[in-house]
Amino acid sequence: MSRLAPVVIDNGTGFTKMGFAGNNDPSFIQPTVIATRDGGSSGSGAPSVPSKPSFLNSSASSNLASKRGIEDLDFYIGDEAVANSKTYALNYPIRHGQIDNWDHMERYWEQSIFKYLRCEPEDHSFLLTEPPLNPPENRENTAEIMFESFNVQGLYIAVQAVLALAASWTSSKVSEQTLTGTVIDSGDGVTHVIPVAEGYVIGSSIKSVPIAGRDLTSFVQNLLRERGENMIPAEDSLTVAQRIKEQYSYVCPDIVKEFKKYDQEGDKYFKKYEGVHSVTGKPYSVDVGFERFLAPEIFFNPEIASSDYLTPLPEVVDTVVQTSPIDVRRGLYKNIVLSGGSTMFENFGKRLQRDIKRIADTRIKRSEVLSGGKMHATPMEVNVISHKKQRYAVWFGGSLLASTGDFHSYCHTKAEYDEVGPSIARHNRVFGTVG
Ligand SMILES: Nc1ncnc2c1ncn2[C@@H]1O[C@H](COP(=O)(O)OP(=O)(O)OP(=O)(O)O)[C@@H](O)[C@H]1O
Ligand SMILES: [Mg+2]
Repeated sequence: MSRLAPVVIDNGTGFTKMGFAGNNDPSFIQPTVIATRDGGSSGSGAPSVPSKPSFLNSSASSNLASKRGIEDLDFYIGDEAVANSKTYALNYPIRHGQIDNWDHMERYWEQSIFKYLRCEPEDHSFLLTEPPLNPPENRENTAEIMFESFNVQGLYIAVQAVLALAASWTSSKVSEQTLTGTVIDSGDGVTHVIPVAEGYVIGSSIKSVPIAGRDLTSFVQNLLRERGENMIPAEDSLTVAQRIKEQYSYVCPDIVKEFKKYDQEGDKYFKKYEGVHSVTGKPYSVDVGFERFLAPEIFFNPEIASSDYLTPLPEVVDTVVQTSPIDVRRGLYKNIVLSGGSTMFENFGKRLQRDIKRIADTRIKRSEVLSGGKMHATPMEVNVISHKKQRYAVWFGGSLLASTGDFHSYCHTKAEYDEVGPSIARHNRVFGTVG
């Protein structure tokens, strides 16, 4: 039987990446937002999926049009949702990486599949992604919607970090295709540091850091405001801050020296952002200065932005490795992989590698001193892998794995679902474990 390419969808807190397995890039990248007429009245997070075992009821898998009234078709997703925000209510179905409103999520998927990807779900297997430590109930809800509402041919729910590891195989720095490594996934809403050994996430050692893209954007917005950049129209200030961050920010080796460089050779470092007023159409320009290196510096010196969270990211990475089983630690330091939009800053990987190496070297030195020179540990190899697919690493890793010949043997099929029910989705086989 010839099979159509599996569909790969990575629903992030901020952005959804969707497309077909085997492709290099997602076909659509859209904000994970839905615009509805009802003002989001369909629940504030409680799953709307029926709790009865509706998989036993074959009529439950009837199509969506009959399931809903026609007025329920009046909604938009993604960029179109944002464009209609004046007359519709915007709802964000994912919070901190996890699906928070199942009704909105189902409708988001519905348009993703039928309006954007334009495919018949019964002809495709689907690879969806989940954040680390996703509760099994969420996986069941997802399976119920996928099999019953959309009648998908097959379903595999992959852990985002594992996909990010697979995506890094495209880097020339990676010598073997391993699913062991530490993933730093920093998107819009949250940053996770996730150790993975042979495709299995070491759940007890995962750490999350409450700094991600959204925080960096609002930090830039504040800096611009404090400096009195009052040319920026209030309604555009967030977008401007985000663009400045994405286009001009970079990671420096040392902020004291960087400030000096700006003082001495300002012309070389200060930039100008040219904008157009979104309502009046008038052009304006904004000076871009220290925020260029200060925004991503928050990862390395969090006290710049807040007094609530103070641990630098390199220290968090080191702790994650040190709390993992001793026999995998070398592998975890050797393959630290970046994933997500907020790891895109120039020199982000370089600085991380330097700082993590310093921490690891200091520890080794200290133990040598403590042993009175009797212990000589081999230096730790620390590699931080930057690569071309970093921005959409999770999606790309999904595209890669779902295009392998044996992907279908990892999927749960519709027939298996009909027999067992949603609990089938509690476990998804780890890649590389099917003989
Ligand atoms: N070139 C860039 N430099 C810096 N930041 C960027 C760049 N491109 C995108 N971003 C930021 O990356 C973030 C989006 O990243 P991503 O798509 O990985 O997040 P997500 O998957 O939606 O969220 P999460 O992983 O938190 O659930 C946004 O904050 C965006 O501003
Ligand atoms: Mg993400």
